[in-house]
Amino acid sequence: MSKRFYITTAIDYVNGQPHLGHAYEKVVADVIARARRSLGQEVFFLTGLDEHGQKVQQAAQAEGKAPQAYCDELARQWITFVHKLGISNDDFVRTTQPRHKAVVQALLQKLYDRGELYKAPYRGWYSWKEETFLTEKDRRPDGTFDPVWGEVTELVEENWYFRMSKYQHWLIGYIQEHPEFVHPETRRNEVLSFLQSQPLEDLCISRPAARLSWGIPLPFDPDYVNYVWFDALTNYFSIPVAWGDPEARAALAGYYQPAAEPAPGLRLWPADIHVIGKDIVRFHAIYWPIMLHAAGIEPPRQVLVHGWWQKDGQKMSKTTGNVVDPVAVIDEWGLDAFRYYVLRELDIGPDGNWTDASFRARYSAELANGLGNLVNRSLSMLRRYRQGVVPAPHDELAPDAQRVTSEVRSCLEQNRLQAGLVSIWTLVTRANQYVDHTAPFKLAKDPAQASRLDQILYNLAETCRVLAVLLWPYLPTTAARIYAQLGLPGEPSRFAEAAWGGLRAGHVVGQPEVLFPRKDH
Ligand code: MSP
Repeated sequence: MSKRFYITTAIDYVNGQPHLGHAYEKVVADVIARARRSLGQEVFFLTGLDEHGQKVQQAAQAEGKAPQAYCDELARQWITFVHKLGISNDDFVRTTQPRHKAVVQALLQKLYDRGELYKAPYRGWYSWKEETFLTEKDRRPDGTFDPVWGEVTELVEENWYFRMSKYQHWLIGYIQEHPEFVHPETRRNEVLSFLQSQPLEDLCISRPAARLSWGIPLPFDPDYVNYVWFDALTNYFSIPVAWGDPEARAALAGYYQPAAEPAPGLRLWPADIHVIGKDIVRFHAIYWPIMLHAAGIEPPRQVLVHGWWQKDGQKMSKTTGNVVDPVAVIDEWGLDAFRYYVLRELDIGPDGNWTDASFRARYSAELANGLGNLVNRSLSMLRRYRQGVVPAPHDELAPDAQRVTSEVRSCLEQNRLQAGLVSIWTLVTRANQYVDHTAPFKLAKDPAQASRLDQILYNLAETCRVLAVLLWPYLPTTAARIYAQLGLPGEPSRFAEAAWGGLRAGHVVGQPEVLFPRKDH
C-alpha cells in the first residue's frame, strides 16, 4: 500500500466561537486535499478539536456541566460548521477521544524511558481568580496585571519538563537542509533567526492534577496531567496510529496496545502538510519536530503558514461587533461565493482584509457576470439554436484552455491557490469576450452561417466543461452544477478530464440554471 498524501489543519479550541479565520484555514486545506485527489493522489485529510485545559474546565464548571458533556455539545456545533463549509475531511479528531489519549500516553512514556523528561520547580505569576499562570504577554505596558485577573502572586510548583533545548542545533540544521519545511519563506526565516538568536528553553509539559484535572494523566506520575500543547500537537500523529499506520505503530512498539488489530493500516506518516495560522508557527516548527525527533519519529514534511484576516482593516472582535460570520455569509450568498472570495482575495501567507464592498464587487463581477453569465449564455444558446445537441468538436478555444489547464495544474501542485484562480479566470474572460466578438446571436439569424455557429457553440460548451474540472477543488458545488447542466454524469473530480474535446457530437445538454443570482443591493 502506498503512502497517502496526509494533510491537516490546526485543531480548534472547542470553547472558541467558529469564525472567519477557522473557516479560511479549513477551506485552504480542503482545496489542497481536493486538488491532490483530482490529480490522482490518495489523500487523507484531518481536522478536529483541541478539548483539554484550564479554560474548558472552568467554562464547563461555570455552566454546571461535566467537562466531557460540555465538550460533546460544542463539538456538535463545530462538526456542523465543518459540513457547512463543504470540507472533505476523512476523519475528525477530538483530543478527548480514547484513541488519541492512548497515543499521547505512549509517546510520553517513551520520552520518559529515554530520559527526555525531568521534574523541576516551575515558577510563574499565578491568577487565583482565573486559576491560571499568566505570561509576560499578559502584563500591561506599565508592567502590572489587569485587575480582571484578581490577585496575582508568584507561585512555585513542581512540574515535568521536556529537554527541548538540547535539540536546538539539530533543528537549525534540519531546517537548513529542508528548505520546504516551513513555508512561506518569510516564516522560515523568522523561525531560523529566532533559533539562532537565543537559547531554547525546556518545555513545561505538565500541570498538577490537583489544580487541573481536565487533561491526560502522565502515565509515569498520576499526580500530573499533560499540559495542552504537547497533547494538542500529538493529534497529527495519534490518528495515523489509530488507523494502523505501520511505521507510526512501529515507532511506539511496546508502548501502545491497539484495542483490536485493524486490517492492513493506512500509510500516512509523515504528514505532508500541516496548514496553520501565523500565531502558532513556533509550536509547529519548533516544539513539534523536536518532540518527534526525540522520540525517534520522522518530522512532518511541511508546515504551511497562512496569515490572519481582519475586517475593515481592524482585528475582528466580538465585543465591538466587528466580525464576519461565515455561516451568515454562506446562508445569504451560497457556499461557493464564500470559498471563492477568501481564496481569490488572499494568497497563503500575507494577512487579509475582509470588506463587504470587495466581497460584493467580486461576487458581481467575477461570479455573477463572469463565470455565471458565461455558463448561462453558452448553454442557453446551445438549447435555443440547436435544441441542446452538441455540434461536431472544434478547437478554436483549445489553445487557451490548454494553457490555463497546464498553469492550473502547476499552481495546484505547488499549493498556489490564488494564482490558480487568477489563471482560471483568464479563461472565463477569454470565453466571454469570444461570445462578444463572434456574436452568435447575430449569426443565428443567417442560415448561411450555420456551420460557423456550430463551431462557436461547441467551443463555448466545451470551455464550460473544462472550467468545471478546473474549478472542482475550489468550488465543488458549482463545478458539479455545471457538469449537471451540461448533462454529464458524476462529478468533474478528475483533473485528467480537463483535456480538450471531452464533449461528443450529439450529446444533449441539460437545462441551464443561474449559478450566481445577481443581487441588487
Ligand atoms: N488549539 C490551537 C491549535 C492547536 S494545533 C495542534 C489553536 N486553536 S484556535 O482555535 O485558536 O485557532 C485555530 C486556527 O485558526 C489557528 O491556525 C489560527 O491561526 C487560526 N485563526 C484564528 N484566528 C484567525 C484569523 N483571524 N485569521 C486567520 N486564521 C486565524 O490555536
